[in-house]
Amino acid sequence: MEPRRSAARRPAARRPAAPPDPDDPRPQRLRALTDLLTPTAVRLAVSLGVPDVLATGPRTADAIAACCGTDPRATLGLLRRLVTCDVLEEVRPRVFALGELGEPLLDDHLRAFLDLDGAAGHLDRAWAGLGHAVRTGTAAYPQVFGRGFWDHLAADPALAASFDAYMDQWAAVWVPAVAPGLAARAAHSIVDVGGGTGGLLAAVLEQDPTLFGTLVEQEASAERARERFTAAGLDERTSIVEGSFFDALPPGEPVYVLAQVVHDWPDDAAVAILRRCAEALPAGGRVLLVERVPDPDHPSRDHVVMDLRMLVVFGARERTRAEFAELARQAGLTLTSVEDAAHGLSFVELRRAG
Ligand SMILES: C[S@@+](CC[C@H](N)C(=O)[O-])C[C@H]1O[C@@H](n2cnc3c(N)ncnc32)[C@H](O)[C@@H]1O
Repeated sequence: MEPRRSAARRPAARRPAAPPDPDDPRPQRLRALTDLLTPTAVRLAVSLGVPDVLATGPRTADAIAACCGTDPRATLGLLRRLVTCDVLEEVRPRVFALGELGEPLLDDHLRAFLDLDGAAGHLDRAWAGLGHAVRTGTAAYPQVFGRGFWDHLAADPALAASFDAYMDQWAAVWVPAVAPGLAARAAHSIVDVGGGTGGLLAAVLEQDPTLFGTLVEQEASAERARERFTAAGLDERTSIVEGSFFDALPPGEPVYVLAQVVHDWPDDAAVAILRRCAEALPAGGRVLLVERVPDPDHPSRDHVVMDLRMLVVFGARERTRAEFAELARQAGLTLTSVEDAAHGLSFVELRRAG
């Protein structure tokens, strides 16, 4: 039998070079699809603050460079590239104004999403390590930035604040839709493990004035949650445990929630977090995960993208029902139900095994 050849040694099924067919639009589409300069240029302009400089009217390239602290000649090149994709207009030679796609870049939400120096930008820049992640099945973020994502946030308060703001922006979409279902599943109290700045916990407590909540979080996000609870008049009904969910959790509570936490971690770490929940859980208690649960054979486009993002950033993944069941088993828990929540998220309920 012929030995199996590795994919790398298999002869490539390439066609011999032929003159391009002018009637075939696909090569051009592929070039547009694979261009790296345009997205980088647009995002760099946002990071440098070019749209803000032009918010009050046209400026020369030299004036823009002076405001942005950049090299004048190089800035002229960047600005002219942005003209070719309608972000800017060159109203006179070397004088630029916001173009059709430049105006929306004054929007704070969009800017936070595109800014290469913010958390969303860092998450996207990790795509540069996709090759490493696909070859090894491990995180690329440490390769690209020299340390893991959570370590990076711990060392850079501005980046951590930007990540909290990024999560809060998404939370404004899903929390109002998910909080009522969570409140209905809560008993007299609820622990939100890795609960970020407390948006979900506050929304759940607002559903039911008899509920108490505990947030387990790292220091900086916990501080922002404290401010939120105080502003919402929830100090009496909340407590905050500053610390790691890899350490013992407050014991004996009826419901432990982990929203979009398990998907950040590779299997070993995910099992360790669930084991901390299992150890804290009283008889009859529940762990509720709020996660995306893709269909193993027909994942949605969002699931596919998020799965790759979790791989590249954390060496983790989106998990199917069977994969959550296996994690739960290893942590001494049993998966008892998976129910749709909202916005592509599901409630995954785990109880103590046996
Ligand atoms: C993807 S965010 C989810 C936040 C929130 N649950 C939500 O759904 O918006 C993951 C959270 O885990 C927190 N986190 C990361 N490592 C942690 C640790 N070792 N202990 C406690 N929290 C941690 C982060 O600070 C972050 O707020």
